[in-house]
Amino acid sequence: VTQAANDLNFTFVVDSEHAYRLVQRVHALLVNQFQEGGVFGPTWEQLTEPPPGSIPESLPAPWWDSKRDELLAIAEQHHAAYVYDRETVGAALSALNSLQSIDAVYYAMKANSHPDILRIVDGHGVNFECVSPGEIQRVLQVAPAIRRNRILFTPNFAPRQEYEWALEQGIWVTLDNLHPLRHWPEIFADRELFVRIDTGQGRGHHEHVRTAGVHSKFGIPLFELDELDELIGAAGAKIVGLHAHTGSGILTVDNWRQTGEQLNGLRNRFPEVKYIDLGGGMGIPERQGQRPLDMGSLDEAVNDVKAEVDSTELWLEPGRFIVAQAGVLLTRVTQIKGKDGMQYVGVNTGMNTLIRPALYGAYHEIVNLSRLHEAVTDVVTIVGPVCETGDRLGSDRLMPETEEGDVLLIANTGAYGHVMSSHYN
Ligand code: LLP
Repeated sequence: VTQAANDLNFTFVVDSEHAYRLVQRVHALLVNQFQEGGVFGPTWEQLTEPPPGSIPESLPAPWWDSKRDELLAIAEQHHAAYVYDRETVGAALSALNSLQSIDAVYYAMKANSHPDILRIVDGHGVNFECVSPGEIQRVLQVAPAIRRNRILFTPNFAPRQEYEWALEQGIWVTLDNLHPLRHWPEIFADRELFVRIDTGQGRGHHEHVRTAGVHSKFGIPLFELDELDELIGAAGAKIVGLHAHTGSGILTVDNWRQTGEQLNGLRNRFPEVKYIDLGGGMGIPERQGQRPLDMGSLDEAVNDVKAEVDSTELWLEPGRFIVAQAGVLLTRVTQIKGKDGMQYVGVNTGMNTLIRPALYGAYHEIVNLSRLHEAVTDVVTIVGPVCETGDRLGSDRLMPETEEGDVLLIANTGAYGHVMSSHYN
């Protein structure tokens, strides 16, 4: 038995005259005879798990488990709804604030810009990383008195006017290309700037979210550093911050250690640097068997960098880590359909509301909240009402017998859920 990606391959060595009949029988046994209610054995992760003792305690039950009644009541009042748990957002913020090695955290608000979420972030003294004037304006609406150095603007291929506007606001501005310095140096005179460096190696849960390397549009490549130096001097600007963000959905702490080491290695070129921003990208466990990022190990990894950087501040700018687990999407079952071995459970919202499964093949746990803890009996594919075959929220999921009107909960949708929703269909 071998495994390739999501396929298990069974290899049988037999005399050739038996092959055809054997293949038919094996097919009948494994595929045609598959009974609803059949449950497979341990998952690949479970089979390959490290020996007992080295396995961390099982993950705590998610917040929504104990708030089921409240959630069902909310679902009564809405067609479909994103619901967020304040305490879970607060816990993630506190975990970040407790990192000894980190001097400041900037919330990458692209993950979720709900005003109440921004208020919780602000209340924990966490700052804001924005990618558009619209995001900056949202922060200023929610916290008008905020110190402007608590906002960091990290645009990418933005027009000149956006840089001019942001610099007038007195917030930190990051350059991730030489074009602005080559073509509009005058707007940067006497300014203190951050620069985003392409460290060359992208990481993350999907090709679309790996943000370093030649095939990613972000960051100033290392071979342009001499020119950067000259252009900054000619513009009369100063580089006070070095930044890199390698990608999103990363669960290995070495990422931030390496980024820190690489950026620290550039400090002698840019002696006025006071801040090193290690980016965001901190992942969360999405499937059973995945381990969460160990905050102690993250702290140790960044502490290794801290030991090298003298008094330079170290920053992080996570988005997903702060909000993903706090959010759930509630939706209601509309229709059920069986087609051969396929069982479809249709719900009243789809890729228009949550595009991550269609866009990245992202996995979100889905439970029948109306029948939480009932025995699972069926393998179903959960689909929305949008006119595309890709409108699948979850494939081949174990579910209890599900009926029209049941409320389904789609977990870990607090980050990049609502903000990426569309008007499609
Ligand atoms: N900093 C910069 C410069 C970024 O580009 C990003 C994310 C972050 C911080 C925050 O990354 P996080 O900590 O959330 O991983 N829509 C995708 C994620 C795209 C992330 C884009 N940049 C998803 O749903 O997985």
